[in-house]
Parts: sequence; C-alpha cells; structure tokens
Amino acid sequence: MKRFGLKKVLSIAIIIAFIFGTNMMVDAASNRIFNDMPHTGDVFADMEKQIDYFREDGDIRDDITVRTLKMHLSGVNLFQKQGQTDKVLKQMQTFKRLLDNQKSNGAISGIAFDVLNTYTQYTIGKINGPFNSDNVMKHIKHLSVDIGPREAGSAAERAGAEYIESVLKSYGYETTIEEAPRSNRTELLLKVLSDNNKIIPLKAVSNAPQTTGDGITGNLYHAGIGQPGDFTAAAKGKIALIQNGGITVGDKAKNAMDAGAIGVLIYDNQDRFTLPTVSLGTVRPNIPVGTITKKDGEAFVSQLSKGKVDVQLSIKTLTNQKTVNVIAVKKPKGIKNPEIYYVGSHLDSVPFAPGANDNASGTSTLMELARIFKDYDGDKELRFAAFGGEELGFVGSKYHIGNLSQDEVNRTKVQFQMDMTGTAWVPASQLFINTVDGKTNLVSQSTHQAAEKLDINKNLLPVHMLSRSDHVPFHEKGVPSALFIWMEPGTPPGAANIEPYYHSLEDKIEHVSPERVQLTGDVVFKAISDLIGFQKNSSKNEDASLKKAS
Ligand code: BES
Ligand code: ZN
Repeated sequence: MKRFGLKKVLSIAIIIAFIFGTNMMVDAASNRIFNDMPHTGDVFADMEKQIDYFREDGDIRDDITVRTLKMHLSGVNLFQKQGQTDKVLKQMQTFKRLLDNQKSNGAISGIAFDVLNTYTQYTIGKINGPFNSDNVMKHIKHLSVDIGPREAGSAAERAGAEYIESVLKSYGYETTIEEAPRSNRTELLLKVLSDNNKIIPLKAVSNAPQTTGDGITGNLYHAGIGQPGDFTAAAKGKIALIQNGGITVGDKAKNAMDAGAIGVLIYDNQDRFTLPTVSLGTVRPNIPVGTITKKDGEAFVSQLSKGKVDVQLSIKTLTNQKTVNVIAVKKPKGIKNPEIYYVGSHLDSVPFAPGANDNASGTSTLMELARIFKDYDGDKELRFAAFGGEELGFVGSKYHIGNLSQDEVNRTKVQFQMDMTGTAWVPASQLFINTVDGKTNLVSQSTHQAAEKLDINKNLLPVHMLSRSDHVPFHEKGVPSALFIWMEPGTPPGAANIEPYYHSLEDKIEHVSPERVQLTGDVVFKAISDLIGFQKNSSKNEDASLKKAS
C-alpha cells in the first residue's frame, strides 16, 4: 500500500502529536503535513506542485510520469495564456485520458488519479458549465470569515440566515425564514477590552458558576501554572490566567480563589485545533472558570509583559432559543400540485468553529445552484433550504419537514443535501453520495448519469451508507435523499474518514478547495437539470475564468 505511505505516517504522527503534545502543530500549519490541495488560483501551477508532492509520496511511480504530466500541463497553460479556451478544454479532456492510462498501467495511484482528475474537472467545469466556484468562495468568505462561527440560536446564525435570504431573494425566489425552537444554550464571551474588543474563543469548565448580567470585567493576572506561590496580593480582584498542566485544574481554581481572583482562564499547554476540556475534579469554585487555546493564552502573556490586559468574561445559559431555516421557493406558473425538488444544506456551525467547510461550503454551493436555476421555467417546484440547528441533531430540518403537509411530502421527489462540499484535505479524494440505508436511489442514480454525461469518472462518486446530516429527516419521510461529502476512499459504511479540521477552530476557508466545490456543483447541477428538464445548461458565466477573481 504505497499510495498512503507518507500520508499515513504523517496522519499517525499528527495523532501522536495531539496525544503527547509535541510542537508538531507549528509545522502542521503548512500544507504538507495535513496534505491540503494547493489552491493559489493558478490551477496549472497548483497541479504541478501537487504532482511533485505525489512523486515525493510515491503516489507517482517515476520521473518519466511526472515529466509527461507536466509537459502536457505546460502546453495547456500556454493556450490558457493566449486565451485559446477551446484548446484548453480539448487538452484538458485529453489530460483525463492520460490520467486514465497512467492509472491503469500503475504509473499513478488511486489518490493521485482522483485529485488530478478533480483539478482537471475544475478547469473544464469553469469553462464549460454555468456553475462558478468563484461565487461559492465569496459566499464562504462572507459566512465563515466576516460573520464567523454560527452556533444554532446565536446572533451570528441569524446574520448568516439573513445574508443567505438576501442573496436568494435577489435571484427572484420567494423566501421565508422559519424559526425552530432549540434547547437552552450556554453563551460564552471573552472580549479583550484593551485590544479593540477582540473576541477570543472560550470554553466553559463544568461545575464552576456562570456569570450574571454582562459578566465580569477585570484585568488579567498571569499566575504561571497556578501554584500558591504563583499568586501575589496583586491577583486580588483580577482574572487569573493560568497555564494548564503541572497541578490539577481543581487546585489551580482553588488557589486562584484563595488569592481573591474573580475568575479563571486556563490556557492550553499544547497546540491543538480545539479548546481544551478540563475537569475540576471535586473542587467547586465560586468563580467562573473557562479554557482558551495555547496561542491565545501565550498572546495574553506577551501583552501582559507590556502592560494591562482588560477583559470581559461572560458565561450564561440562555432560554427560549430559536434556530433559523432559510427556505427559497420557485413555483411553476399555472401548475397545480407540482413535483417538488429540494436542495438542502445546513447554515449553522458548532460553537467557535468558523464552519467554512462544515458547512458554509455546502450552503454556498446551494446558493450558487439557486443562482443558475433562477431562470428555470419548467413545471416543477424548486426549493432551496438552508437549515439551522443541524449540529444539534437536525433540529431545523426536522422542524421544516414536520410542518409540511402530507401532500407536499408526497409531491417531494428528491432531496440533495450539500454538506462539506469542499475540503482541501488531500486524502478525502472522492465525493461520497451518502444515503441513509446505503442503497442507491433517485439522487444517486441521477448523479451517476450526470457524471457519465460530464465525463466525470464514476469512481469519484461512490454510494455509501451514512446518516449524520439533514438528508435523514427526508429519508424518514420516504423522500429519496443523499448527503454529498468528500471523504477518504476505503471509508467503511457508516463511518467517515474526513479532514482533521472538522468541528474545530481550524475549519477555515484556507482549507476549502474551490476545485472540489466546482466538481460538486457541476455534477449536482447536471443531475438536477436533467431531472427537472432544465435546458439552459450551456449558459456560461461572463466572468468564468481559470484564475481566481482576486
Ligand atoms: N457535516 C457533518 C456531518 C458529517 C460529518 C458527515 C462527518 C460526514 C462525516 C454534520 O454537520 C455533523 O457534524 N453532524 C453531526 C450530527 C449529529 C449532531 C446528529 C455529527 O455527525 O456529529
Ligand atoms: Zn458538523
């Protein structure tokens, strides 16, 4: 199993790094250790770089193969520079055949084939089809960077929903925002008043009290690892900043309390993608205790060496919470009781994950699909539904379906769920079509037919058994549905080998591949077009280009 040689070793090294807390994460920020697909915007340069990585990893057998691939690409690049788009198209179609041959004679591995194929399809899709991943990337940026984490029920989730609604409305859809009740939610806030009200990701430690009103405000006091000797009289009335490790968290909290601190922030002693989970043991402090990352803790320590750091800390449980769905509908004119076709996604994220891939990617793919279907005037009804509260167990989609009439359910022919449609993590090289029962259905069949027409290798689109998203409530009502997500080949049924950024602070736009988004959009667009009889599928974008807009 040469094909996963270095990658497997690296994955294991990363897991070891997580467990033993080495400083590997410093290197891990680079593409190499986590194997992100390069996506600088210059697709041919990115492909060449990826070819070099595959050669290093042994996924490309020899230097002759590397030279053959690169020679072809530099030829296409020349046509691209000369603006000879038809030649670019033709040459990339030939490139697909070259990859086919190299795979069948063992010159390239399965993963090298999948990934290079995806880049190839990206170049073809951007020229040939109406789906434009540049638009998708802009939506992802707005949702994951400008708005940021979108926990169900939060103001940010609402802001995300309003953005999605305004975009879908601008395409002429009839839109509604639905509010679904959700369970009580703990809202956490760590705001650095002395640093432009910067918000720092925070996790509450169980068995410590919450704050009231606007929370507590105070200066930070750096108390080492929180031993009694780490506190002086100056700690009184301040929020103790304590490094994790050395002594128990219970003792740290107790010592802080004894020194008169009004709150405790434990910062991690190892780099990782998530906020540390710690336990107070049997200690029950009467001041709030939260955790932050190593990076944020160390930044505080360095600020403290220069002066005061003033923060506001609030941990409170909110009741009567509502998560929101955005539903956009296009009804056919003059048709009674039309068939209904759903595209779905979820717009919420887990707390403090920017949710770029999970799931600004799927939601933005949905928005771009809505854009290119806006001129549809056939006899079917189209519905684009971005659900809230998915991360709590499909709260938004269950609410939506629960409010449909039996007649509407009966008229619903399919649901395509777009969730995590663009991870850049190299090993997730195939777009899995996941059904709840693992069987093929109208969604998977129509997608496979579309792939064939688009000359996309069917191997890239395996049918698999997996629940875990908003296609589940549709399936339970008898609607053929499937979840589209990029995963690692060889993933066992029900399981999911996916990116290491999942549900973490690192679920950022940098780790989203426009190439994979493009392939997803191309194939789903074609599948739905053919199902509903949409003719206009050759319409090109005036601004479609192989280079990134910015
Ligand atoms: N996008 C994920 C679903 C997912 C994760 C699919 C990994 C394939 C691989 C989704 O947002 C999610 O996290 N779902 C929850 C569902 C749960 C709350 C019922 C999950 O899988 O934990
Ligand atoms: Zn998720």
